Amino acid sequence: MGASNGAAALEVTGLEAFYGKSQVVFGVGFSVNHGEIVTLLGRNGAGKTSTLGAITGVVTSKATGLRVDGHDVRHLPSFKRSRSGIAMVPSGSRAFPNLTVHENLSMVRGQGSREGWGIDDAYDFFPKLGELKDSQGGQLSGGERQMLAIARAMVARPTVLMLDEPSEGLAPLIVAHIGKLLRQLANDGLAVLLTEQNHRLALAIADRACFIEKGEIAWSGSAKDARSDEVIHRYLAV
Ligand SMILES: Nc1ncnc2c1ncn2[C@@H]1O[C@H](COP(=O)(O)OP(=O)(O)O)[C@@H](O)[C@H]1O
Ligand SMILES: [Mg+2]
Repeated sequence: MGASNGAAALEVTGLEAFYGKSQVVFGVGFSVNHGEIVTLLGRNGAGKTSTLGAITGVVTSKATGLRVDGHDVRHLPSFKRSRSGIAMVPSGSRAFPNLTVHENLSMVRGQGSREGWGIDDAYDFFPKLGELKDSQGGQLSGGERQMLAIARAMVARPTVLMLDEPSEGLAPLIVAHIGKLLRQLANDGLAVLLTEQNHRLALAIADRACFIEKGEIAWSGSAKDARSDEVIHRYLAV
């Protein structure tokens, strides 16, 4: 999953998103490099989920540029964007409750021919899922379901892994553990883009941050600079 041509893993410019005639994202631009975690922060309703949806292709959008590893994906429908390397872990858990962990992972295997994770790699990386491989998705705890959702996304062999509010509804210890796992995946070369209400977790593991306000990027910079009280207060205080 390393950089093949020196391009950013994900490059977004001039992104606009629409629900019918209502525009909710206005000219958003940012990039995520291989090995990097970028977090998209902002108040409720700012446009974080819509931005991710525009990138995966499930929300109507226009962009002056949308590139994965340098390849223009704007013309691709959603399922082809996922084959081209964009993986999404939506908020809440989407594992199939009546399938076992192993069946959940097997379903996404072998789409396309990208190099990367197999199911055994998923069990190596998440030993807990290996122990639970015959358990049904619906029997897992919130943290285990989140790991399964991430493992499912990784088995699809993405260039960029996008997660919408991965800490939602999880206990602090589990959140810290998942944060550590995401950092480890990035250190192995994955590009990670995550939205969070939990800015502490996000800024603790991210390299860079973008604050979105009313559908526009209002601030972007290093995660370190974003941790300043002034920035947090300006863009997140209600
Ligand atoms: N399915 C939808 N139909 C119409 N408007 C929507 C829909 N989903 C979100 N919106 C609107 O788009 C704006 C951005 O929402 P969203 O992207 O969900 O924000 P965030 O994820 O930052 O909380 C909000 O004004 C919200 O009301
Ligand atoms: Mg959201």
